[in-house]
Amino acid sequence: MFPIQRPRRLRQNETLRGLVRETRLAVDQLIYPVFVRPGEGVREPVKSMPGIFQWSVDTLTDHLAEVFSLGVHSFLFFGIPSQKDSQGSEAYSSDGIVQVALQSVKDRLPDAVLIADLCLCEYTDHGHCGILRDNNVDNDMTIDVLARTAVVQARAGATIIAPSDMMDGRVGRIRQALDQSGFEHVPIMSYSSKYASGFYGPFRDAAENTPAFGDRRTYQMDPANRNEAIKEVFLDLEEGADMVIVKPAMPYLDILSEIKKLVRVPVAAYQVSGEYAMIKAAGQMGWIEERRVVEESLIGIKRAGADMVITYFAPEYATWCLGN
Ligand code: PBG
Repeated sequence: MFPIQRPRRLRQNETLRGLVRETRLAVDQLIYPVFVRPGEGVREPVKSMPGIFQWSVDTLTDHLAEVFSLGVHSFLFFGIPSQKDSQGSEAYSSDGIVQVALQSVKDRLPDAVLIADLCLCEYTDHGHCGILRDNNVDNDMTIDVLARTAVVQARAGATIIAPSDMMDGRVGRIRQALDQSGFEHVPIMSYSSKYASGFYGPFRDAAENTPAFGDRRTYQMDPANRNEAIKEVFLDLEEGADMVIVKPAMPYLDILSEIKKLVRVPVAAYQVSGEYAMIKAAGQMGWIEERRVVEESLIGIKRAGADMVITYFAPEYATWCLGN
């Protein structure tokens, strides 16, 4: 008790604070999401995400080589196809945009971890994450298409498959398909607890996947639920997931923390587009100190239990780390 106990003793200067710091976030624990579209020489700014671009395969490959040299070695791929249809067929065509990008980046950066986001929403003309029947996303038809897509992504060079669709039973179905095609060594990183979130707003500009009608609440989770998140995580682990993702990150730190305590697999948190956009916007207005808030948000996510953080800030954060 005071005056014997004086916690301020250990906060006197940065060296001492560094010595007793409980949480650290290394650059190689970051995963950088990227958007790739057809064309050449493309570097199209995403309006609601300053600093984030849609790339073509050539510019993306150069960009990622640069980011890799900063120490960020893991990338998450999203594609904007040349054509969308009701089945999302470019998702699983062998010359689909993500497949071409995976091959190109793998050739250039053989040691990078290439994570293929697996979902149909960028590829369907209706913008939903699966195949429709009577204006409803049909679960079992969708998981067959996802499984087929996973195999094509693995064949194109994906190191990890990351299903983000939130269909029931997809992890098991994908595991089975990968194993049957000789990809038993390819891990599944499942978006296990993915909430139906307004924080995905800017991503819809980036990935052009706004649903033509309705919303995603019949497959993504209700933000009010906690037990359900745990249930989803355990179902995915039973079905063969190697790692799990909590998404979004900052409004769901309690979920992240609880899941981290319950499971013995690596847990990732996804700091999504809306979290990025809010920090960027307030920073641009001069209302917050952007760098400080970015670092605080990332260390908060790590402290809550994330082993890895998926964040659009990855290259910037890496630059700061090198400068320090
Ligand atoms: C679906 C997907 C989404 C995001 C990642 N994967 C969008 C959605 O579910 O509507 C959002 C990521 C972000 O907001 O940064 N393929």
